[in-house]
Amino acid sequence: MLSKIDAKKFHTLIEINSLINSDYKDVHNLLSQIMESATQLCDAQASSLLLMDKEKNELYFEVALGEKGGEVKKFTVKSGEGIAGWVSHNNKSLIVNDAANDKRHLRNIGEEINYTCKTIIAVPMRIKDECIGVLELINKNDEQGFIQEDMEWLEIFANQAALAVVNAQSMEKSLREIKQLQDRITHDQYHTIITKSPAILEKLDIIDKVAKTDSSVLLLGESGVGKELFAEQIHLRSERCSSPFVRVNCAAIPEGLLESELFGHVKGAFTNAIANRHGRFEMADGGTIFLDEIGDLPLSLQVKLLRVIQEKRFEKVGSDTTVTVNVRIVAATNKNLEEQVEKGAFRQDLYYRLNVFPIYIPALRQRPEDIIALAHFFLDNFMRDSKKQKETRFEGFSQDAIEALLSYSWPGNVRELQNCIERACVIGRNKLINTEDLFLKAYDDKVSMHHHGEKHIQEARDLKAALNNFKVNFIRKVLEENNWNQTETARALAIQRTYLSRLIKELQIEA
Ligand SMILES: Nc1ncnc2c1ncn2[C@@H]1O[C@H](COP(=O)(O)OP(=O)(O)OP(=O)(O)O)[C@@H](O)[C@H]1O
Ligand SMILES: [Mg+2]
Repeated sequence: MLSKIDAKKFHTLIEINSLINSDYKDVHNLLSQIMESATQLCDAQASSLLLMDKEKNELYFEVALGEKGGEVKKFTVKSGEGIAGWVSHNNKSLIVNDAANDKRHLRNIGEEINYTCKTIIAVPMRIKDECIGVLELINKNDEQGFIQEDMEWLEIFANQAALAVVNAQSMEKSLREIKQLQDRITHDQYHTIITKSPAILEKLDIIDKVAKTDSSVLLLGESGVGKELFAEQIHLRSERCSSPFVRVNCAAIPEGLLESELFGHVKGAFTNAIANRHGRFEMADGGTIFLDEIGDLPLSLQVKLLRVIQEKRFEKVGSDTTVTVNVRIVAATNKNLEEQVEKGAFRQDLYYRLNVFPIYIPALRQRPEDIIALAHFFLDNFMRDSKKQKETRFEGFSQDAIEALLSYSWPGNVRELQNCIERACVIGRNKLINTEDLFLKAYDDKVSMHHHGEKHIQEARDLKAALNNFKVNFIRKVLEENNWNQTETARALAIQRTYLSRLIKELQIEA
């Protein structure tokens, strides 16, 4: 063991240990820090941490520090080749203080980057006795070269680095498993489509026919009309129904991650790409992929998608090998893709490819037959799921509430109706849900002012006006419940009394 413990080295070890226990996410950063400490404490000029790529049986530079660090990273070293290769092959530490005359020393890297290695120390990184990489320090700032004590220290650092890699790998594995399980829980359930509308029933007939083919389908329609449910139906009514249905929301994944999410990556493709990873296209092999918000797909990925549609082939990030998949593509958007094409934000060729089978889902206000059917469906669902069931059993909607639901314009479509019913279930105190519970009155006033023109839709879409309407109604309701006592009302609303009186004045709330 170490002859005497140097306080500085000891503190560095403690520091790194606490990093290993806390910072799993950025393993590359952690390994760089370990190497920086090792280089400094052993007084070397340069250093590198090489990891073993088992498939290729070669070492690649995960970290390379020193004046030529950046240039070194493009090289790889075969196992058995050079000092690092010798160490990994023999799974043994090594000090070479006369590199110029050592047969094992590989000169080509040094020559290419114009850097002379005089002294070298290298130790294996081990996990359960297996060498997974090598730590190497180069050119000690001391004439006598590296000594036994350096080796002992470096071996401790190598253990820490190995631990950091194991942690990162098991973390990544767990995260992947959690994600798969989450996906199964939240996404493997398919929704029930509720409809009484002839327009929707007609679309479902079309879906039935399209489902049997492998054509790409483009689902169009406003936000919240049920495009995802239609995508599910295309899958469920197809022969692919027992294979995976994989959902990807192109707008929800940051641009930098989307390519690897869709197509996967190979180990080392970018920082933190520690292991090979399947993309969503591979996960959907044999089944259907649902590309939601396709209008938000970055231009750079549109070319790649086009090739997948045409040839069913792609390359993973960081790889030249072509992967072939058998996947049916269903895409959806609430954007006007033709306009996007004109603006240059969406490729025309991709648009034509996706638009082979466009299916437009009408807005909820264009199919009033569905409003009440859906309202009852959501009411039943909430009654079943919520604890409220024991307190109040809702029997349905008052006549006024039904009229209010029917005359409202539903700019947020079915999703908005679902939220509205959920809110009403929370607020409602009587057996029948009434108009006030729906919080649609403010819109109704505007709707009746503008009949059925487009104007009211725009007004209802004005967020500020909508919020103000909500505030007026909500505050008035709580004021009424508290007999217009402002102190009590402020307490119920959890706001200051002075703020409440200011709101009453500003929003002109009157009894
Ligand atoms: N016909 C329907 N029957 C039952 N539930 C529906 C129906 N249509 C939509 N929903 C429900 O409404 C919500 C919105 O539907 P969905 O997510 O499919 O909309 P979308 O068109 O994909 O919207 P966006 O463009 O915002 O993504 C979902 O919770 C869905 O379950
Ligand atoms: Mg959607």
